[in-house]
Amino acid sequence: MAGFDSPISTLLGGSPPSSLSLGKRAGDVRGMSLSSLCSALEDGEEESNSSSSDKESIRESPERESYSSSLLEIGIKTSTTSASTSTSSSTALLAARRARVLGANVATVDASLPPIVAGSGCRLFAEEEEEEAEAEASAASAGGADGESENPTLTKEKIEKKKKTKLVPFLDAQNNVAHLGHSHPAVAAALSTAFQTLNTNSRYLHPALVEHAEQLVELLSSSSPSSSSPSTSSSSSPPPPSRNGVEDPVVYYVPSGTEANDLALRIARAFHEEEEEAARSKKKEKASTSSPSPSSSSSSLSPSSPSPSPTHRHHYLALEGAYHGHAGEPARVSSYVSFGGKVGSPCPEDVSLLRLPDSVRDKSNNSSWDPAPAVRAAALRARRASSSPSSLSTPATLTAFIFESFPSCAGQVLLPEGWLSSAVAAARADAEEHGSAPPVVIADEVQTGLGRLGPLASNSLWAFQHFGVRNPDIVTIGKPAANGFPFGAVVASRRVAAAFAGNHPPFFSTFGGCTAAAVAALATLGALRIERLPERAAEVGAGLLVGLQKMVSSIENEKVRSELVIQVRGVGLMIGIEVAFSEEARGFAAAPAVASFVAAHCRNFSKVLISCDGAGERRKSVLKVKPPLCFGFEEAEELVEALRMAFEAVPGEMLKLEEEAVEEALAAG
Ligand SMILES: Cc1ncc(COP(=O)(O)O)c(C=O)c1O
Repeated sequence: MAGFDSPISTLLGGSPPSSLSLGKRAGDVRGMSLSSLCSALEDGEEESNSSSSDKESIRESPERESYSSSLLEIGIKTSTTSASTSTSSSTALLAARRARVLGANVATVDASLPPIVAGSGCRLFAEEEEEEAEAEASAASAGGADGESENPTLTKEKIEKKKKTKLVPFLDAQNNVAHLGHSHPAVAAALSTAFQTLNTNSRYLHPALVEHAEQLVELLSSSSPSSSSPSTSSSSSPPPPSRNGVEDPVVYYVPSGTEANDLALRIARAFHEEEEEAARSKKKEKASTSSPSPSSSSSSLSPSSPSPSPTHRHHYLALEGAYHGHAGEPARVSSYVSFGGKVGSPCPEDVSLLRLPDSVRDKSNNSSWDPAPAVRAAALRARRASSSPSSLSTPATLTAFIFESFPSCAGQVLLPEGWLSSAVAAARADAEEHGSAPPVVIADEVQTGLGRLGPLASNSLWAFQHFGVRNPDIVTIGKPAANGFPFGAVVASRRVAAAFAGNHPPFFSTFGGCTAAAVAALATLGALRIERLPERAAEVGAGLLVGLQKMVSSIENEKVRSELVIQVRGVGLMIGIEVAFSEEARGFAAAPAVASFVAAHCRNFSKVLISCDGAGERRKSVLKVKPPLCFGFEEAEELVEALRMAFEAVPGEMLKLEEEAVEEALAAG
């Protein structure tokens, strides 16, 4: 199996993309024309493909050419072709067309952002019409003073032709899906090869899927790699120290984070039902041996009739403001989408929410930082809800505890040391005290996994390890794992997954773990190692955090300094900047309009992309920084400067309006 330093060529069966180094990808590509950018990207792809001449012949085949031209004929253009041939639609027109055909609530970054047509490293490129050409065009169409066109040879058609497009680079500090960086050559090459040779589902034996699953198991297993190798185990050597990971993991593939969490919860239910069943049988056996009755003694002589299966009721524990997916069970446990993100707001009967510690508002109230009482209360709620009239029923406890170790959508909430591990320990201890199956502990690493927080030690790429959560039963993975190709995985302990494997039909997901997903994910793991991106995330993230904190403490805008609390927090390249009113100004109320102004200023003035998020008390008032991991010190400086200018530019009037909005919200309850 390829180790941490294995070259990407081993993983992909091709040569490493040496010519498009990290520096070139992540470096400054401002000023490059669209065509040179596209050809640079193409060059990288060519070179990374150069060793496979047989693949080249497929690439250049006449069938491929006619396929491309027929796509163009029917108006389907790839991003590069549409960019290089320019579009006639203005941003507003395209946005209006989008609004007409997409659902009204389909999310958008900003309707006024020009179309994004290319990406490279941590830059995105928007296509804009050249102002000069536009000015010339409008002057021509407006005509001269005498009502005649200044340039009569400039017909409408020619004006259209003369309109040029330029590429405007944006620094992408918000896109954690392009984990390695946009248009990564290794992933592009892997996907290109897959689409030209084979892309089929995971029912077929394919080395890439097996290799990827082995690597995930190695990265997440609680036993160190050497302990599972028969050649290194001997009776005389002491057992290797166990790592903080999943016990004896197995992998399931799905195409998204939502589906990964849905499957994780399904596995948890299957495990709990089996455990409860076993405990019930044990209880029944014990009851029949301790108080023999005529009927029970007769039943001991004859095969016992199957006991009526109790209706299993499940109860989930989740964190306040969490987001685990847009559909099914994950949406039900996500207070971010389903029920406003606030503890105390109406919540499904089978879900309990754990209030998050709040380092802006809770400073004086340390007792609320101990999660154990709230966890025990949730477990009690679960027992009450599931208590059955049968005296032989087993008191059920929580089926699953699902969490992000660094809650993102909730508002980049940095949990205090030990808080989450105490919550997990309390949930497990409560189950043990009540003789019931332990809750299945599900660490959602869809946003935080694969080194975004930096490595803790060799191979420690997961947020649960950073926050000391011991041995989760299941880890879910998604977004960044295939650098933008649809991907999700469930890594579950074999013991927990056994109930699901044993009592259910074969598991199958058409696109989960398809060949393309497998090779893209393998290439992503390989590039992470070769480019040492987790290490880079730790170094750049630490510098960025200090830079942001310094910038915030030196803001000159008097109103901002005196009326707002701006807290900067984070680990690695997972950073949040919370904007709230000060206690004196407005009792720590969130200031979402100010946060949104800052993000818009960064976008429009500095061409830097960041987003706003947050639930409950932090509602949309946290600026989220989670860039591709190729983000470097130069980009970090650019981001700090953009934010500084944005905070300096917050108008006093806006703070007043925001305060009035807070008043109104308070009055409305
Ligand atoms: C923590 C977390 N889990 C799960 C999901 C769902 O992933 P997907 O959008 O791939 O379904 C998301 C998406 O943002 C997420 O942030």
